[in-house]
Amino acid sequence: MNLCMIGTGYVGLTTGACFAEVGHNVICVDNNTAKVAKLQAGEIPIYEPGLEELVHRNVSAKRLHFSTSIEEGVDGSDIVFIAVPTPPQPDGSVDLSFVEGVAREIADVMKGYKVVVDKSTVPVKTGDKVEETIRRYQKRKVDFDVVSNPEFLREGFAVADLMHPDRVVIGSKSTRPVAAMKQVYEPFGAPIVITDINSAELIKHASNSFLALKISYINAVSVICEASGANVSEVAAGMGLDARIGKRFLDAGLGFGGSCFPKDLSAFIKISQQLGYDFRLLKEVQRVNTEQMDRFVTKIEETLWVLKDKTLGVLGLAFKQNTDDVRLSPAIDLCLRLQKQGVKLRVHDPKAAEKAKEVLSGVVYVDDMNDVAEGCDALVIATEWPEFRQLDLNRARQLLTHPIIFDGRNVFDPAEMEQQGFIYKSIGRPLH
Ligand code: UDX
Repeated sequence: MNLCMIGTGYVGLTTGACFAEVGHNVICVDNNTAKVAKLQAGEIPIYEPGLEELVHRNVSAKRLHFSTSIEEGVDGSDIVFIAVPTPPQPDGSVDLSFVEGVAREIADVMKGYKVVVDKSTVPVKTGDKVEETIRRYQKRKVDFDVVSNPEFLREGFAVADLMHPDRVVIGSKSTRPVAAMKQVYEPFGAPIVITDINSAELIKHASNSFLALKISYINAVSVICEASGANVSEVAAGMGLDARIGKRFLDAGLGFGGSCFPKDLSAFIKISQQLGYDFRLLKEVQRVNTEQMDRFVTKIEETLWVLKDKTLGVLGLAFKQNTDDVRLSPAIDLCLRLQKQGVKLRVHDPKAAEKAKEVLSGVVYVDDMNDVAEGCDALVIATEWPEFRQLDLNRARQLLTHPIIFDGRNVFDPAEMEQQGFIYKSIGRPLH
């Protein structure tokens, strides 16, 4: 099929490349001329495992193209996907101006029947507004359908998630666009949920909020574990074997961050409020998440006492493993909080250092994780990068002025760390 993807961010670019990989012809459109020029030259603006090869392969096969022209994209396509940012506003609601802007531009250039698909994460009832907007601004009164098709990919696993999705959700008012949408997704072999637009939009917000709730739940349990001497990893493992609960998303730590969960949670609370429901359960999810970080900072203070002029080494800046994304990263939040207290920082991240430099200055960026501890009063682990398990612990103990490790992601085993001579403090796990 001929597809147009408007927006070449994490979702748009990766989805576009995966559509091309299964044989569709895809044109990715972005109004950022510098970005499009880079993409045309084969440069990938984000780090996402497997993406670079995927883009290069499909560009060479002439199934994937880049352009700055919405008209070119819409003219040559049967289906037009909107995958532009929907950033949060200070009151928690979603800024839908990019979606609205693109809907108007599509309306302006549309010359025949098109399926317009909203892939951006939007509050329930946005589809109605997109339809209204296109109808209002259409230059030529041609037929069209609006479809909601939320994306569930995780950063760091975007290609794998897109190639092997758990499910595909298609929300539509009429049956007309459904056959074409099924054709787009059939090659991926996932279950396809066909529903109405409002339900499709809600599936996205309700899913992400539920996952955030699961993380806050285990983080709250970790507090009880610390108070009682139980071990949250063992509690989570025991809980996770119940198929109704499942073992994923039960890792206690510094809480969730990133460009999705915090934003989607706020947006869901806000839209619920506008619809007349006070979603207090989700407000608690937010509160537990904030308190988890407070508690970790307190743990550092209790151990090191006065933080001013202490030096801490921080491993991890990305909001999670396998990504260079630092948006709303708990690790960056932690660094900024420590800096405010006069702590000097030596930091390292396997992939996110460059992006971190834009939001975290006045720290020493260290290239090798094994050099971070040099002259530090303690080491902090803030992101669950798997390579941190390979940290040279003997060297770290020698480089640290005191052998103290605060592990905000439960990367190491407490018994082993104690055996190695560390004062080791993690989340919800007792010392032996
Ligand atoms: C999330 C959803 O998983 C995805 O379906 C949606 O499309 C976008 O939002 P993403 O933001 O890429 O994806 O990250 P995810 O892997 O879900 O992790 C989010 C945050 O939760 C990270 O900060 C991570 O460290 C934290 N987390 C995750 C935990 O603290 N504990 C866990 O058990 C799992």
